[in-house]
Amino acid sequence: MEYLTEESILSRLNTRWAGRACRVLQDTDSTNIQCRKLAEEGWPEGTLVLAESQNAGRGRRGRTWVSPPGTGIWMSILLRPDCPADRAPMLTLLAALAAEKGIREAEGLEPMIKWPNDLVMNGRKICGILTEMKTTDSHAGYVIVGIGINANLTVFPEELRDKATSLLLESGREADRAEIAAATVNALEKYYERFLREQDLSSVREEYNQNLVNRGRRVHVLDPAGGYEGWCLGITSAGELQVRKDDGSLVSVMSGEVSVRGVYGYV
Ligand code: BTN
Repeated sequence: MEYLTEESILSRLNTRWAGRACRVLQDTDSTNIQCRKLAEEGWPEGTLVLAESQNAGRGRRGRTWVSPPGTGIWMSILLRPDCPADRAPMLTLLAALAAEKGIREAEGLEPMIKWPNDLVMNGRKICGILTEMKTTDSHAGYVIVGIGINANLTVFPEELRDKATSLLLESGREADRAEIAAATVNALEKYYERFLREQDLSSVREEYNQNLVNRGRRVHVLDPAGGYEGWCLGITSAGELQVRKDDGSLVSVMSGEVSVRGVYGYV
């Protein structure tokens, strides 16, 4: 196993600002927590924090994120977007696309995006994103984008075994963590600059949709106001999922409000 170092990341970056301030920690609570501390201290946009292991890794919906040493890419990047707070959730979709591209470029593998921001291979999750934001009035203050990629994990806790997988388990060879981390950050800088210009996902929508595992499939929308099924068409420029219901009507599903499952399982 190769240890991550600041040098191994920096030498692979082609960015102007993303990842240029970089910290690699050994064991930490959560890279999102550590990155948030640096944000409060005034560190610049693009500050990147990685850890070999997290003992309080956080997932979405208050879940924990299993982050054993030396096996994953557990990283958080600090953004200070000049946009209204209600647009910041789109950054989560951008990060998923960046991680997808990073893995494809570095490893030649082809994970797919499960809307809004999981990456899957063969129906199992290999990457999750947790975005946390500090708002000032209705403006996005700073945003911490936390990316967790199951690179070289070989065992998962019992309850995750049929839902999670790793690049190593899927490809049969060890993944190069520094290469993937840097390629993801390189992609994120490009996508993010386009997002700031357009203030939405219009310039990445097509690419996102091409990599969307749900596209063209039946989905079950778990809406607190009442679930329904339909055909998934892809995302809008705002990152909503367009679903054609069986009565012919078209609905745009917002992330956060509902979750989407395949009719036969997670994907
Ligand atoms: C999810 O539940 O799908 C989101 C998982 C996000 C995990 C990453 S690992 C790096 C960063 N630090 C954390 O504590 N969480 C994110």
